[in-house]
Amino acid sequence: MAAVVVALGLSAVRSRDLPPGYVIERQAPHARTAAVACKHVLELDSFLHNAPTPEHTRATFGATAAWLAERHGARRGAGGLLLDSGCGTGRSTLLLAQQHPDCLVIGVDRSLARLRKDKRDISPGAACAPRGDEGPVQPAFDNALLVRADLPAFWRLAVESGWRLRAHRLLFPNPYPKPAHLPRRWHAHPSWPLVLALGGELELRSNWRTYLEETVIATSAIAHLASSDGEAGDLPPPSCDAAALRPDVRAAARALAAGLRVEQYAASAPFVSEFEAKYEAARLPLFRLALRLG
Ligand SMILES: C[S@@+](CC[C@H](N)C(=O)[O-])C[C@H]1O[C@@H](n2cnc3c(N)ncnc32)[C@H](O)[C@@H]1O
Repeated sequence: MAAVVVALGLSAVRSRDLPPGYVIERQAPHARTAAVACKHVLELDSFLHNAPTPEHTRATFGATAAWLAERHGARRGAGGLLLDSGCGTGRSTLLLAQQHPDCLVIGVDRSLARLRKDKRDISPGAACAPRGDEGPVQPAFDNALLVRADLPAFWRLAVESGWRLRAHRLLFPNPYPKPAHLPRRWHAHPSWPLVLALGGELELRSNWRTYLEETVIATSAIAHLASSDGEAGDLPPPSCDAAALRPDVRAAARALAAGLRVEQYAASAPFVSEFEAKYEAARLPLFRLALRLG
């Protein structure tokens, strides 16, 4: 699958005027991106076996599931479930909830300090008084929930509970641009197959084009593996056996729409998140990638 880069022509960025960390130069995608992604997808079960889910995450997930069940019982959320992974302050979660009143929207972040940040510009009373440090944070919107949790453990419990998302957002994930930090980027993390298995319309946004280009490479390699019948071609390691893929991951990867596209876009108010607003104020080019996971 080819990545198509669409340039909309924002004005040139004067990177020397910006604070450090704002501009991350485009690099060649890491040479091991495809191999690492395929390795993780084939070794998912052993990763899960060796990474037990902490009890506090189970408790938080249980409370989240109860919140969902309560709303489903009241016939809410007919539009489906939206997940905002790494939601930061949760601004994007609340905006999604506003834009999709027929959906239930869950924002997850590991930083309680960020989740607690005042969001009254979006919703009066959305200052959020968390019920407990580990518990879900209920914002003022009835169809949105902010949750403090570590994403890999949360994704795992969601997959094990049979969640199927309508849409999934990964907005401005930490880039970890040093080559040695490839495994910290989500597409090269052992939990990436869980993101695929959750399905739905997955949208990533970043100010670092390379991050999204690597996501295309990683996910295309998995799709290639999933659609082959044991013959994995050159992309995955030689020992790859497509039959070893878990059926849920295989089905999601096979459903990937052809022609994954990294596109530059022009952000405008209301900005979806603090990071988008910050980068737009600095007139940095921004990029997005949409993956249709079936
Ligand atoms: C660069 S910030 C972007 C926040 C927000 N999406 C935005 O656009 O403003 C990345 C966020 O991912 C969260 N994050 C990183 N790794 C995480 C993990 N393993 N589990 C949960 N959250 C994580 C961080 O706490 C941080 O809030």
